[in-house]
Formats: sequence, structure tokens, C-alpha cells
Amino acid sequence: MPHPAIIKDNVAVITGGASGIGFAAAMAFARAGMKVCIADVDEARLAEAATKLSSITSATDVMTFAVDVSRAESVRELERAVGAHYGGTDLLMNNAGIQPGSTLFAEPDNWQRIIGVNMWGIINGSRIFAPGMIARGKAGLIINTGSKQGITTPPGDPAYNVSKAGVKAFTEALQHELRNTSDCHITAHLLIPGFVFTGLTAKGRTEKPAGAWTPEQTVDFMLARLDAGDFYILCPDNDVPRALDEKRMLWAAGDIVENRPPLSR
Ligand code: NAI
Repeated sequence: MPHPAIIKDNVAVITGGASGIGFAAAMAFARAGMKVCIADVDEARLAEAATKLSSITSATDVMTFAVDVSRAESVRELERAVGAHYGGTDLLMNNAGIQPGSTLFAEPDNWQRIIGVNMWGIINGSRIFAPGMIARGKAGLIINTGSKQGITTPPGDPAYNVSKAGVKAFTEALQHELRNTSDCHITAHLLIPGFVFTGLTAKGRTEKPAGAWTPEQTVDFMLARLDAGDFYILCPDNDVPRALDEKRMLWAAGDIVENRPPLSR
């Protein structure tokens, strides 16, 4: 049974949608008959992605938008443009991300850029789109792309780890907030891909390494987990701690969150 937000003529906005996991998601949503807006900072790739998406799927009206998710004003422009073009948003996938590498004592600019795109990108998208999505009064989805590195925090690349830990924490806060908002049919989900072969991870390789998933496999898995109602979507090659998995199962069972007192606002 497909998720009620992923239906014909509903509107999906995907940041970082011009390549990798985001593009595979845009294809899947377009194939489900959704109206799609691909938003990305890379304008050249954006144009290519729109052409490819229209030629492979039957989507005739593919919107593209040049956005820098790290800047709230840019995300506001995206939200307004989608509203003007499609009338609103039913599904937001905050997926744009970068992994240029970092060290603990790298220049602050390096840290700010990584946290700006990976963490602020998700915060900006969620905060700016959620009110309009709630006001539509329909089933809706916010999917935030985290990383297992935000949970296992392995040595190396601390700025990326911190940014993705922030994505997890923010998404949990958003889940609570949405649960405690009356007449709200929007749910927030944390996608934690495993190792997916994309531009972000290719690092000069042209062949998919053994064990890596394709973006399409990741998206198929994500769609199945959304249909099942999971809040945490942990791709199976992950070695995330069992504790998180147990928490996810509790959440999926509707516990914990239901038992929390409403947030005071
Ligand atoms: P990708 O490099 O193929 O796609 C990322 C997209 O984000 C690119 O099209 C890029 O232009 C766009 N982008 C970068 N900065 C942006 C900005 N400021 N504003 C708007 N768009 C921007 O990489 P991939 O692998 O598809 O990554 C998607 C997400 O998945 C990222 O958040 C990444 O951290 C996450 N992820 C990826 C994993 C992997 O193994 N590929 C594993 C875990 C998480």
C-alpha cells in the first residue's frame, strides 16, 4: 500500500535532486505520478537532470530551481516558487549534502560550509516548508537525509559527523513537534543510507564497489519503509547501534512519542 502522500498529482520537492540519491528519488516520485521540483545548487546538472527525468518518466511538467539550502532566503524563494507553480508542497526531501572532508582544526570556513549545507540545509527546509504543508491539511512527508556517521561518529571527518548528528537531532525534534500539532498529517522521517555509489562517494572510481548500493536501491528501500510507517529508515548495510534500532521499533509502534506531553509553544 503506497504511502498516502506519494500519490498522483501530489507535489514533491527534492533538494540535492540533480544527482545521486536525490535524483533517484525524483525519478521514483515522478513515476508515481507526482509533480516534481528538483532543487539543486548545481545549475548545469539541474538542466540535465530535468531533461533526463522527462525523457525517462512520463512527467511533462518538471520544475527545477537553483537553490543554496544553506541560505534561508534562498530556501524561502524555493518555497514561494513551488507554491506559485504547483500550489503547495506535499513531500519535501531535504537531501542536499556535501562531504569535502574536514579535520578538527581545519579553518572555520570549512566547518561552516559543511554544517551550513548538511545541517542548516535540513533546518531551513523543514522550518520554511512545514507551516505551508500543515496548512494544506493533507497527508505529507518530510524526509531528511542523515548518515550513519551522525550516529556512529567514526574517527575522521568530524565536521561531517557533527552536521549529520545535527540532522538526526533536528529530525527527532521535528517528529515530536508534528506529532503534537493538532490536525497535522505531516510526518518527518530520517533516512540513513548505507554506502551508496554516487558522485559524493565515487572519489575517482567509475565502477560501483562491492557492497555499495545504487541510489535506486536506496530509494526503493526508502519507499518500502515509508509505506510501512517507519520514522527511521536505516538501510540494511548499516552498523548503527542496536539501541537506535530498538528505539525505531518503539517509535514505529507509536510508543514514546504518544506518551510525551505536548510541547509548550
Ligand atoms: P551527490 O553528490 O550525488 O548529491 C548531492 C547533491 O546535493 C548534488 O547534486 C549537489 O549539487 C547538491 N548540493 C550540494 N550543495 C548544495 C547546496 N548548498 N544547495 C543545494 N544543493 C546542494 O551525493 P549523494 O550521495 O546522492 O548524497 C545525497 C545525500 O545523502 C547527502 O546528504 C549525503 O550526505 C547523504 N549520504 C550519502 C551517502 C552515500 O554513501 N552516498 C551515505 C550517507 C549519506
